[in-house]
Amino acid sequence: MSPFRITRTLPEDATEAALRADVLHGLTATPKTLPPKWFYDARGSELFEQITGLPEYYPTRAEREILIDRAGDIAAAAGARTLVELGSGSSEKTRHLLDALTGLRVYLPVDVSESALVRAGQALAAERPGLRVHALIADFTRELELPETPGPRLVAFLGGTIGNLLPAERAAFLGAVRAMLAPGDALLLGTDLVKDERVLVRAYDDAAGVTAAFDKNVLAVVNRELGADFDPAAFDHVALWNADDEWIEMRLRSRVAQTVKVPALDLAVDFAAGEELRTEVSAKFRKEGVSAELAAAGLELTRWWTDAAGRFALSLSTVR
Ligand SMILES: C[S@@+](CC[C@H](N)C(=O)[O-])C[C@H]1O[C@@H](n2cnc3c(N)ncnc32)[C@H](O)[C@@H]1O
Repeated sequence: MSPFRITRTLPEDATEAALRADVLHGLTATPKTLPPKWFYDARGSELFEQITGLPEYYPTRAEREILIDRAGDIAAAAGARTLVELGSGSSEKTRHLLDALTGLRVYLPVDVSESALVRAGQALAAERPGLRVHALIADFTRELELPETPGPRLVAFLGGTIGNLLPAERAAFLGAVRAMLAPGDALLLGTDLVKDERVLVRAYDDAAGVTAAFDKNVLAVVNRELGADFDPAAFDHVALWNADDEWIEMRLRSRVAQTVKVPALDLAVDFAAGEELRTEVSAKFRKEGVSAELAAAGLELTRWWTDAAGRFALSLSTVR
């Protein structure tokens, strides 16, 4: 068994302060919003894993197909000795990369979900003698301090998670990733692609209701952490395609007029009947857009692979 370490880069009270600030800002804004990172407590991470196996949720299968086909090409192009993975979750698909990156010494999974990091990190360390697994509990939208590790570095950001950032947030994020890379390092980015609206909406509104439970989990997090009295049954899960912005929106629609109290913030929030709280955007991309956003951050897209059905893309880019 190889060593497994887990480090929290921010003190726990910083996480609590960030949640308070996001909830105060989001629930007093018009329209109301909450950032998607707060879905992922232990239950939310578990629900997301269930989503990845749903028949309607094609992105995980499509991205895995590309990784299976192309891990050798990625490894040959990147030649990485350190793999940093942002928003690593269960690290399940990452196994294909870990198998192919034969010179890899260190795996640094980064996630807000401690439970997901512990589970995945311990399993990988146990299975892969010779690989140092050092997990970081951190918010990838904030400044990331990575430990010194051998280069070249490959930074992977899989699952289409970049689509959960709004355009200005994506620009800032890609700029920060660019700053993490030295010449010879690379970014492996997973992006879900624009496609038929019905396929997209189904992927975020499955028949079994798992995505609805995931969506409502953010209310449970706010209840537990801030003493709020959200009744998840008083909200409906909504997924819709915003054609102008080319993103899916997940929302929670209040079934009735109601007031929700958030004692930790000394806040009472009124919802009109039918009023919606936006909990996630999931942007869908085209190759030109990805290439342009990377270029704006000082990165050059060098490889572009899709699954056979053209649903999802992985791109490799390097410092320009
Ligand atoms: C859509 S899931 C993708 C998980 C995995 N990479 C995959 O492809 O299946 C997003 C992951 O990013 C993590 N995450 C979301 N926002 C984050 C943030 N701001 N900082 C760090 N991790 C975050 C979540 O905990 C979750 O594990």
